[in-house]
Amino acid sequence: MLPPRYRNNDEGTFGKHTAFVRWPILIQNAIDDTDEELAAVEGERATQGALIRDQLAEFKREVERGDLLRKFTVEEVQKCNIPSQFNDYLTDEGRDATWHTAEWLFSEVYMYRRINTLFGMQPLWTKFDIFDRVKQSTFKSSFHGVVELALRFHSLSMQLSSNKQQDRESSRLLFREFVDISLWGNATDLSLLTNATLDDIKSIQGAEARKKSESNILVNDTDAAFDLLWDLKCAKKEEIRVDFVLDNSGFELFADLMLVGVLIQLGLATKCVFHCKDTPFMVSDTMLKDYDTLVHDLSDRNFFPTGTSETKESRALDHFVKTLKELTSTNKLELQEDSFWTIGADYWNIDPKEQKYRGAIIHKELSTKSELVIFKGDLNYRKLTGDRRWPRTTPWRTAIGPLANNGIRVLSLRTAKADVQVGLPEGVDEKVTKLWETTKPGEGHLWMTSGKWATICLSDSKNPE
Ligand code: F6P
Ligand code: MG
Repeated sequence: MLPPRYRNNDEGTFGKHTAFVRWPILIQNAIDDTDEELAAVEGERATQGALIRDQLAEFKREVERGDLLRKFTVEEVQKCNIPSQFNDYLTDEGRDATWHTAEWLFSEVYMYRRINTLFGMQPLWTKFDIFDRVKQSTFKSSFHGVVELALRFHSLSMQLSSNKQQDRESSRLLFREFVDISLWGNATDLSLLTNATLDDIKSIQGAEARKKSESNILVNDTDAAFDLLWDLKCAKKEEIRVDFVLDNSGFELFADLMLVGVLIQLGLATKCVFHCKDTPFMVSDTMLKDYDTLVHDLSDRNFFPTGTSETKESRALDHFVKTLKELTSTNKLELQEDSFWTIGADYWNIDPKEQKYRGAIIHKELSTKSELVIFKGDLNYRKLTGDRRWPRTTPWRTAIGPLANNGIRVLSLRTAKADVQVGLPEGVDEKVTKLWETTKPGEGHLWMTSGKWATICLSDSKNPE
């Protein structure tokens, strides 16, 4: 029997705190941001915007009261292309679900869909991303981290271009370094960083912070992932495609792009494919347009004030933008979006048997075309493991269900920000609980919700053990 999924009323969980405390704050932030937008518009757009604002306020009350999760109306489904998974779930297993008792995973995903629907129903706001302001301002605050990484990437590229053949061990070191960068890039998640200061952001980005956090990676399959890509390179495989199921835009996306640059330069991948969200999601998740915005921001000296085009910082940023443009124009980097990534279903549905919500299509694409699929971040981890109350020592391959055996190589890079935790060696949970208890008395058991610890877990289901 499978353990139950986390629910919004599970005592002592981060999920409960999120549903009762964090969601109302998050919706209030959306209301405040709508107000700011409204200050700059007039006419029909202002009228529609004011309506959305009032509906958001009512939606916040609905969540706070703990109302029943309602189905999307026919009009909403049609106008906003709501995938059928939402109403199917609410007709079936979730028919009695309220904001206070529902499964955490589904209700959180559903909440974002409800927010977007309010915008989607108003003709002059359909494409509006309410989280854009906060995405942009946090990326701007990442200035120091961005410049530090751009400088590192620039000098590395120079080195690699003058010395083409890297041996196995130096390639391994670079792979480790950039996997680490991509991993800790996930600590900059806007749904958690709502009140972060510039110093807070600086303290989690940059080489020094990563060094300090090394021992906080509790499971680390980086070397095994490297070995399999290295073997493919040595076998002179014509196409080595690595997929990224992305998480957050801004700094994390920037860090992921660094990893792509290094994979391609080392010949560990010949092509990378990014999977983006098709609607604004979990505040900061990457949509296709966020990639374009990022490239634009990196080129804009007002956004990142690195001085004239001659400074080494400006040259490093320009070099990175040029690298990205080359990667996309030669199809070595491709970006896609799919509704599958923004529905409430977990990733056990990435399976040939899942015929309703595009799970079989995603499975076919990833199992036949990709050598490695990197799932970034916390929500992806929750979806991989079904967000269930697994014992923390449950083997990774058990917790990801069919994905352990259906032809997809899964690599999860996660800084832990939610209750579900699996794959730990015996005794680790107890040890970290004690440690966190000294920082947060009474909350030791919630260490896996702090974003301070991480796991890198691989399952090679092309060659299952
Ligand atoms: O609201 C909780 C949550 O869903 C957690 O999973 C995590 O804290 C965050 O939102 C999303 O994190 P990430 O961007 O890493 O998926
Ligand atoms: Mg996210």
